[in-house]
Order: sequence, then C-alpha cells, then structure tokens
Amino acid sequence: MEIFHISAECYPMAKVGGLADVVGALPKYQTNAGHEVRVIVPCYNTKFRNENDFESVHQGTITLGNFKFPFNVLKETTDKLGYELYLIEINELFDRSNVYGYEDDIERFFSFQIAALDWISTRNKVPNVINCHDHHTGLIPFLLQYAYKYESIKNVKTVITIHNGLYQGWFGFDKLQYLPEFDLVHVGFLEWGNSLNSLAVGVKCAHAVTTVSPSYLNEINISANGLESLFNMVRSKSRGILNGIDIEVWDPSKDIMIAQNYAIETLENGKQKNKEKLCEQFELDPSKPLFSFIGRLFEEKGGDLLPQASALALSENFDNINILILGSGNSAIEEQLIRLRNDYNGNYNVFIGYNEELAHLIYAGSDFILMPSRVEPCGLNQMYALRYGTIPIVRRTGGLQDTVIDFGDNGNGICHDQASVGDICYSINRAVKLYDDKIHLNKIRNTGMKTDHSWERVCQEYIEIYTLIIEKNEV
Ligand code: GLC
Repeated sequence: MEIFHISAECYPMAKVGGLADVVGALPKYQTNAGHEVRVIVPCYNTKFRNENDFESVHQGTITLGNFKFPFNVLKETTDKLGYELYLIEINELFDRSNVYGYEDDIERFFSFQIAALDWISTRNKVPNVINCHDHHTGLIPFLLQYAYKYESIKNVKTVITIHNGLYQGWFGFDKLQYLPEFDLVHVGFLEWGNSLNSLAVGVKCAHAVTTVSPSYLNEINISANGLESLFNMVRSKSRGILNGIDIEVWDPSKDIMIAQNYAIETLENGKQKNKEKLCEQFELDPSKPLFSFIGRLFEEKGGDLLPQASALALSENFDNINILILGSGNSAIEEQLIRLRNDYNGNYNVFIGYNEELAHLIYAGSDFILMPSRVEPCGLNQMYALRYGTIPIVRRTGGLQDTVIDFGDNGNGICHDQASVGDICYSINRAVKLYDDKIHLNKIRNTGMKTDHSWERVCQEYIEIYTLIIEKNEV
C-alpha cells in the first residue's frame, strides 16, 4: 500500500525529541515490508537540508487569509534513508534553524499541512493511508474530508499517532479564515473547550488513533490536559502500539559513534572502555558507577528533580558514584545543574545542549540511565539503554511501565512509583548495591541486551490498523 507519514520532525532531517526517531525509522521498516512509504516534513534550515541533494517535484502557492505563500516540494534524491523523504519548502516560514518556538508557529504549521495536502491532491495517484503525527498535523484528517478543494482525496484513510498529548496546538477562532473553504456543517469538529484545538480535531476526524504505548492509551483517559473525555469517546478506534527502535542505528556491535564496539560476550570490557572515554571527557572516575540522564530538561521528564536528586545522591554516596547529565530546556533547571559542578567536581558533570554522538557514547559508557518522567508516552532512551547493556532506572509511567520491570521481579531495570527526589535517590541507592554484585548486574545487563524492541515486529501492527480501516472502515 502507499503510505504517507506527515510530521514536524524526522531524523536525520530535523530532531527535537523522540518523535523524530520514530518518524525517521518506522517508514524504513514499512518500506522493507514491501510498502511504498513517503515522509513529508517542513524544509527547515538544518544541516541535513544543506548537506544533501534535493530535486523539486511540485510547486504551488497557498493562501492563508490575506497572505499568499509560494511553496516547493523537494524530494531527497538518493533515497538513502530507506524511504522517500519530501520537504515542504516555504522560505518565509521555514527557512529557520529551529523546528518550534516561533511566534508564527500557527501560520507555519497551518501552511505546512495545507501545502502537503495541495500536493497530494494534485498527484495522479491516491494514497491508501495518511499517518499524521501529533498536533502539528492534526488538521489533516479534517481538511481531507471536508475542505472542498481536496475532493479527489477525500476518501483516503487517516491515522493520528499521539506521541505527546500535552501539547495540542490551540488557536483562536480568528484563525479560521486561514483554512481552505469547507462545509460549515462540520465546523464543530474544530472546537474543544471553547477554543480550536488541532490535536482534538485530528482525534475526532481520523479513522484511527494510536498512542505510542498501551499504558499511555490508558493514562490519557485519566489525564490528558483537558482531552480526557474526548479520548474516552474515541476509545473504540484507538490502539496503543509500543514504539520500536532502529536496531541498525542503535547497535553497540557496529555503532561508529562509540569508543569501542561490543556484544553480549564482550559486554564488560566493551562498556568499561566506553566508560573510560566518557569519564576522561567529563573528568569523572571510571571506577565508580556512572548514572546518566539524557533528555529535555522539563518537568514532564522530571528534569526539575535532577538538581536536588543529584545533590542528595552525591552527598549520601560521596566519592561512590558519578552523575552525568546531557540535555537542555528550562533555563532555571540548566542553571542549577551547571552550579552543581562547583560542589561535586570530579563526581558530577553536565553538558547543556544536544549532541547525538555524545548520546551514543553515554548509552555505551554509563551503568545506569535515569528516567524520572512525570509523563512518558513511550520513551526511547530506556530501550536504547537496554540495547547497550545499560540499566534503566525509571518511574513507572506510560511506555516506561510497558518496557522496564524491576530486577526485584526478575526484570531488566529499576523502577519507582513517584516522580520525587526521594524515590530517585532510593533507586540510586539500590543501584549502588547492585553494582557491587557483578554477577547479578551482568545477568540483568544481558537480559536487557537480548530484549527485542525492533521495529520489524512493531511495524506490522501499524499495517494491521491501516488494513482494517481500508477494508472495514474501522479498527
Ligand atoms: C515524545 C514522547 C516520548 C516518545 C516519543 C516518540 O517525545 O514524549 O515518550 O517516546 O515522543 O514517540
């Protein structure tokens, strides 16, 4: 079948978080499974855009209220990603280096969605499915069915995948003028709680809704930033599908970004070599257990707990552990983390920013990965960690709960219930004891490395949903 994925992020073209990793990998495995898969993302001014070759395959102009924007559809020419990548180039709106965070984000993502549909509706082939991702593409299932100009593709089936339900893309009724003319009978689909809500639109109008883990599907019925009752109402067309990871990119035996490759048989030595490199770079002591955090420094990820938890764990275990943090986000959290360097020099360090290569080395060289998330729709870091023989320490929530089981229950990690400083430190103390019991430690690491989180298996679950909505109009 012909499948389009439309998203704000796709690795390696543009990455802010896990959304990019999923949209950069799932299409590859769907292509391998014999489908024609095309991914559409905005043409930001990124390294990938500047270092690769593209050809223009379509040109048009979109109207957004009183504004007109010419756009170009660019195709990556080598297909080296394992699927076809298309960029929507609208220079006035996307020729910037960041993905989000601009005052005109509404105009940017409205234009992106309209341009993508304009192009798809003028091709001489009608796709079978359009898989939208998060609120930036939430208007598509609505526009496709009810905007007059998309008549030729109105029967295409749509799926919306929710990677994060907290962000919903709210906009005022004044922005209605931006949308292409549609049958006003259906205007109610656009509204939720007295405002226009892009994610709610997608959830109401798509033929199927998927979340990135089964537990997250249950959670959004209870807590979803105001959309709980909507998620309850659409439960029968919703499915929770646990994300996979790209096991070709994340493979300690082949990874070119790490200091030494290793497999299960060479785990101990391989990890030690990577740890030494990492510790040298960050002035830490490779003879002590290394706890790391990789991610966005926001409350959602428990980022606000890190400064206090690190200080407490380091003072309780002074000279016994190392903590290393890689991330960026809330500037107050960043400052507190930077300040901690003065107090725990030699046992603690932080790198503010994001660096893909460093992330790989951290998975390979750390003993434990901290994930104290308050909300975690799936979480990929725990799966990367497991693959690299690094033990995840997670709060039981969303996808973390679906992938990590406490070693006390014969599992692959360490779990706690609360997103609190106390719970994080309690888990760190359990980890320190485990670290001294090398036989037990290596057994847990081995179990983790053997876990199959590949997309091969998971991608079939998406295909099953597409097939059901194509054949039966329901999931
Ligand atoms: C978002 C979620 C994260 C998930 C990722 C990919 O970033 O916060 O939990 O793993 O999307 O689906």
